[in-house]
Amino acid sequence: TILVLDFGSQYSHLITRRLREFNIYAEMLPCTQKISELGWTPKGVILSGGPYSVYAEDAPHVDHAIFDLNVPILGICYGMQELAWINGKQVGRGDKREYGPATLNVLDEANALFKGMNDSTVWMSHGDKLHGLPTGYKTIATSDNSPYCGVAHDTKPIYGIQFHPEVTHSTQGKTLLKNFAIDLCHAKQNWTMENFIETEINRIRQLVGPTAEVIGAVSGGVDSTVASKLMTEAIGERFHAILVDNGVLRLNEAANVKKTLVEGLGINLMVVDASEEFLTKLKGVTDPEKKRKIIGNTFIHVFEREAEKIKPKDGKEIEFLLQGTLYPDVIESISFKGPSQTIKTHHNVGGLLDNMKLKLIEPLRELFKDEVRHLGELLGIPHDLVWRHPFPGPGIAIRVLGEVTKEQVEIARKADNIYIEEIKKAGLYNQISQAFACLLPVKSVGVMGDQRTYDQVIALRAIETTDFMTADWFPFEHSFLKKVAARIVNEVDGVARVTYDITSKPPATVEWE
Ligand code: XMP
Repeated sequence: TILVLDFGSQYSHLITRRLREFNIYAEMLPCTQKISELGWTPKGVILSGGPYSVYAEDAPHVDHAIFDLNVPILGICYGMQELAWINGKQVGRGDKREYGPATLNVLDEANALFKGMNDSTVWMSHGDKLHGLPTGYKTIATSDNSPYCGVAHDTKPIYGIQFHPEVTHSTQGKTLLKNFAIDLCHAKQNWTMENFIETEINRIRQLVGPTAEVIGAVSGGVDSTVASKLMTEAIGERFHAILVDNGVLRLNEAANVKKTLVEGLGINLMVVDASEEFLTKLKGVTDPEKKRKIIGNTFIHVFEREAEKIKPKDGKEIEFLLQGTLYPDVIESISFKGPSQTIKTHHNVGGLLDNMKLKLIEPLRELFKDEVRHLGELLGIPHDLVWRHPFPGPGIAIRVLGEVTKEQVEIARKADNIYIEEIKKAGLYNQISQAFACLLPVKSVGVMGDQRTYDQVIALRAIETTDFMTADWFPFEHSFLKKVAARIVNEVDGVARVTYDITSKPPATVEWE
């Protein structure tokens, strides 16, 4: 394992990510981690970049015990400045911030770290820089603006680089991380998904023990399904999945999930139809945030009530709650956020833990989304489910603008179903990050046959994005939109008109509410 110590750079998690792409296991911890409390010995240590200045009074610093581990150390950007600060303090403000591409000039070709790196483009993003060499170090690479683009200790395997190898703009950045981990640290390339399944199943069995029971909520999405399947592989019927039908799920969703999970995957699933309860609470509510709150709270209430009904055979209580937390959420909660480090608790079903006195079990906490999908494929979860678009917790309630009634939900979900069906038929589903139909509660005049109609409007949305923070609308062919619009108006009672949303995010959001 390679230890990545995070100084708060927005790129830190990418270091772990790149190493995993070479099947090397890496673990990221805050830069303040005490080495004596680690409990394991890393094969190498990487110090990440960070937004601070090493010379600032409240700057974060690494535990000097990393130098006693006698393993290779790589400092990236702030990490390099930290190494310099510890060895002679040659760090200060640069004349100007350096941000963008630079060409790497490797001086010491024999240095294993830079094998295959000469003349490659590297990505710079720093305000501070080295004003001289740290004591006991030599220069191993330069760039036009950085005379100390790469430095190495004269005798020990300690390296510093000014650029960010973890971002894809550094064309050979992956090579450098691989050189470091494999050639210098001799890390094993044994982190595969097959191994992960085996070790995770064993870990779950050990954690849960021979008799305890686990409960978990499933949503019909990728994460909860993969987590549930893994639990089932580990402890079988002692895992109890609950799907709460909140009345604002997609068309036939509860029945479809039941069929796939129970019949297809052998998961011990209970479907609770609480749609009336949710819709009653949503009556008269039009404010989007209120809708979210009502649905969240009602969910917790229903889940707890139903969980009470599951009584393990020997009269034991349920001990664990399964959560489909992914690595990005974990990073969010462990990454170093400055001298006063804030630990954010996961909020997926946060309230549940407080009330139910359950211990948390998170089998996906080491995985990125695409790894969860890969895991899902290996566990035999149907391809369509593994590659499903995300769906918000408050569901169709935030896609029916204005008041949410059974009738309005029915119109929205029928239109949505036609839209998604056509997207799949056209082979576009995987090119789109998220697509859905929204029901706008405005009446519009139309004509069907000889009849004047006066009905509502459906707005279609489809976006492409990598992170859902920014998004662009999907450029459908006109013929595709024409077909979908015709089908929706003809097949869904209550709709007179269809529009296509051509706003990007920002300024719009993905959802309409
Ligand atoms: P926005 O509308 O914020 O959406 O641009 C970004 C992504 O988040 C999803 N989303 C939600 N997911 N509960 C959820 O579980 C919510 O309240 C919620 N609101 C938005 C949205 O579907 C998109 O993928």
